[in-house]
Amino acid sequence: MINNAQVFVLESKKLRVSITNYGAHILRVEMLNRNGKWSDCVLGYETLEDYKKYDGYVGATIGRACNRIKDGRFTLHGKNYQLGLNDGDKSLHGGIHGFDKRMFVASIYDEGMLQLQYRSVDGEEGYPGTVDVIITYRTFDDTLSVTYDAVSNKDTLVNLTNHSYFNLSDTSNQLKNHTLQIQAHEFAEIDENLITTGNFIPVADTLFDFRKPQEIYQQLQKNHPQKERAKGIDHHYNFSTSTNQVVLDYPPLKRRLIVSTSMPGAQIYTANFLDKRWFRNNKEFGFRDAICIETQAISNSINFSEGLEVILRAFEPYHEWTNYRFESYE
Ligand code: GLA
Repeated sequence: MINNAQVFVLESKKLRVSITNYGAHILRVEMLNRNGKWSDCVLGYETLEDYKKYDGYVGATIGRACNRIKDGRFTLHGKNYQLGLNDGDKSLHGGIHGFDKRMFVASIYDEGMLQLQYRSVDGEEGYPGTVDVIITYRTFDDTLSVTYDAVSNKDTLVNLTNHSYFNLSDTSNQLKNHTLQIQAHEFAEIDENLITTGNFIPVADTLFDFRKPQEIYQQLQKNHPQKERAKGIDHHYNFSTSTNQVVLDYPPLKRRLIVSTSMPGAQIYTANFLDKRWFRNNKEFGFRDAICIETQAISNSINFSEGLEVILRAFEPYHEWTNYRFESYE
C-alpha cells in the first residue's frame, strides 16, 4: 500500500492538472478545446497502485539523474561511485528507488500552484550528498509550468525531468497524424545498450530531422541504425534555441503542445518499450502510442565529458524549468 499519497488538482482557465506526491507524478492533464470540451493529453492509470505496479515511469518525476548511466558508475573528484543498477548493468532514471518511487511532501498548495519537497539523503542509490529538492507546478491560462529547485551539501549529480507520455488524439494509434518539431541540429548517438557515447549525429538527411514539422509515424517507417537500436526514437537532442524547442501537433483535432525549457536538450522517446496495458477510462495504449519529451541535460555525460551540466556543486542552487503550453487553435 502507498501511504499518505494524495492527489492535488490545479486549475486554470484552460487546464486541469492532477498531481500526486507519490513520485511527484503528473497523473492527468486536461485541456479545454475551442468547442468547450475537456480532453486528456497524457497517459495515466486509474489507481495509485497501478503507478507502483507498472514500469515505464508514466508521468513520473525522475531523479537524481535521468536516463542511463553506464555501469551505474562515475568518478567525481577522484572518488568512484557505484549507483543502484536497475536496467541490466545500467542505472536508469535514478536507480532502484529513484524519485519516482519516493514520497514527496506538499508544502504549498492552492488552486494554481503545488510545491512538492523531497530530501534525498547522502548515499541514496549511491549518489553522494544530501539533496533537498523542490518541484513547483503552476497552471496559468493554457500552460503547465514545472520548476525544479535543488541544493546539495556535497558535490553530486542532479539531472531532473518529468516522464509524461503525451498523445493529443486520445486514441492508441501509434502517434498517427501527430507532427513533431524539434529545434535541434543534432542528436546524441547511443551504443548497443542505449547509452550515450558522447558523439553527436547531425539530424540532416535522417529520420531524426524534425527541424521542420514532420509526421512522427511516417518518420518512424524509415530506417537508421540508431532507430533499430532503440526500436524507435529514444535519443537526446541538443537544442539550438532557447524557447519553444519542441512542438507536438495533432492537426485533425487542432491541438498542440508547445514545450519551452531552460534545459539544454530533451530525451525524445516514442514509447518503444511500452507494452500494452490499460490506462484510465478503459483505454489501452502500448508500443509507440505516445511520446515523452524529457527535458534534461544529456545523460551519462559524467562518463564522457567533464559532466559539467549534471554536476551540482555543494550549496549552489539548481534551478531549471519546463513550460508545457496546450493550445486549441482555429
Ligand atoms: C526513458 C528511456 C527509455 C525507457 C523509458 C522508460 O525514456 O530512455 O529507454 O527506459 O525511459 O520505459
